[in-house]
Amino acid sequence: MRMTKKFCNCRDVTYADIMAAMRAGAATAEEVSAATGAGTGCGRCREALDFVVRDFAEELRAERDGSLGL
Ligand code: FES
Repeated sequence: MRMTKKFCNCRDVTYADIMAAMRAGAATAEEVSAATGAGTGCGRCREALDFVVRDFAEELRAERDGSLGL
């Protein structure tokens, strides 16, 4: 996935912005939403945010555990 790809058009939030918010400590979709504004416009991306946050949390966990298979 291209991290520079736009996730939330209403608030101009990219996938990279979501990951940055999570690296800074946001752990739930609500916290990412509060930090970035994602999902606070039309609401169309709000449900997808749950999935993206879950995926990124898994990535960050794997990164921390050193289990990226590198
Ligand atoms: S596209 Fe994210 S709130 Fe509208």
